[in-house]
Amino acid sequence: MGELFRRFWLPAMLDFELPSPDCPPVRLRLLGESLVAFRDTSGQLGVLADNCPHRGASLFFGRNEDNGLRCVYHGWKLDIDGNCVDMPNEPADSDFKHKIHHTAYPAKEWGNLIWVYMGPPQRQPELPQLEWCRVPASHRFVYKTHIRANYMQALEGALDSAHASFLHRWFDPDSMPNRRGFDFRRMFSTVAPTLTVQETNYGMLYGARRAMDDGSFHWRVTQWMLPTHTLIPGPNWPKFGGCWIPIDDEHCYQFYNAYAPDRPLTDEERTYYASGLTAVPKMVPGTFHPEASLDNDYFIDRQHQKTRNYTGITGSGLEDMAMVESMGPIYERTREHLGTSDIAIIAARRILLNSARRLSQGIEPPAAANGGLYAVRPLNADVIHADFGTLVATSQEELLARV
Ligand code: FES
Ligand SMILES: [Fe+2]
Repeated sequence: MGELFRRFWLPAMLDFELPSPDCPPVRLRLLGESLVAFRDTSGQLGVLADNCPHRGASLFFGRNEDNGLRCVYHGWKLDIDGNCVDMPNEPADSDFKHKIHHTAYPAKEWGNLIWVYMGPPQRQPELPQLEWCRVPASHRFVYKTHIRANYMQALEGALDSAHASFLHRWFDPDSMPNRRGFDFRRMFSTVAPTLTVQETNYGMLYGARRAMDDGSFHWRVTQWMLPTHTLIPGPNWPKFGGCWIPIDDEHCYQFYNAYAPDRPLTDEERTYYASGLTAVPKMVPGTFHPEASLDNDYFIDRQHQKTRNYTGITGSGLEDMAMVESMGPIYERTREHLGTSDIAIIAARRILLNSARRLSQGIEPPAAANGGLYAVRPLNADVIHADFGTLVATSQEELLARV
């Protein structure tokens, strides 16, 4: 599975973590590897193995100077490609430094994130053409959250439409923050959606159909793109989505995005996304660790649980985290009992496992080579049709025109 992930560009950091040339380097851990990220004097991004190739001191303490990161232990200096460009503790005529090839990964900025590619250089793919990356920065909000659980455990929450009817339920939907004109009653009124899954060459899309009292159907269609991108049908514009990147087996980063395809986000929207009430919880200052955690029971309020919302926990992001982390870092999946509402989770596990197996037989994942496959949208609509086939449309407008 690690090899499969190494076929894709992986979101790793927010761009403001490396704001300017020669700014302080930042520790980074991805796919179980300890790394250090920096921006050199000419503004280029570098991602290096954290342990200095000389005797292993952490390059995090290094001096970021004159187009390279210099280890403070004995002064070896590395450029963004992992070349040792200076070795001041060896004789001036020594060619030892030319024998050093330090682990270095390419990094690119895309959609206000820094992405890293950790796979074979000859297979470096295009960047995925996700709509939230393509819009101007003014149209987009992105953030990340550290989660103490395996990435798959966290990702599966986004492939589980049924949980929204319970975990995120408010007893009085009118009191919900930021309803944005959406009638959440449709989502909360019918709690057992009918799920339909369709595998695609980029991953899968699945539809959750809820039958309404008036005979119509409320559909939510979620996109899932390899390795772990999801586009979740929001109530209205802006749209939102996320991806889950393994730090190691027992930790991951959730990257969250919200965007409007056709206009800048308003100040009110930005304030709201940063408020701690959405998918992004309130963080311990200077970190991406939420203040609420398993250690303090996510500040659960039992009175609110009786009167205000289903969980008594504040914020959909924290509600998701509480469930995902409370399973333990990696839950023993043989103890699960999966039902019909879990078919999207089952399908995603199969697709990932099959993709990894195929890769081990030399068959590359088609999505890695074709960034254009990522140019899709999720969907949220009320329709009179029960048939999923009518819902495969590229936009809400197109769908509504069709029905
Ligand atoms: S350990 Fe880095 S230069 Fe010696
Ligand atoms: Fe959720």
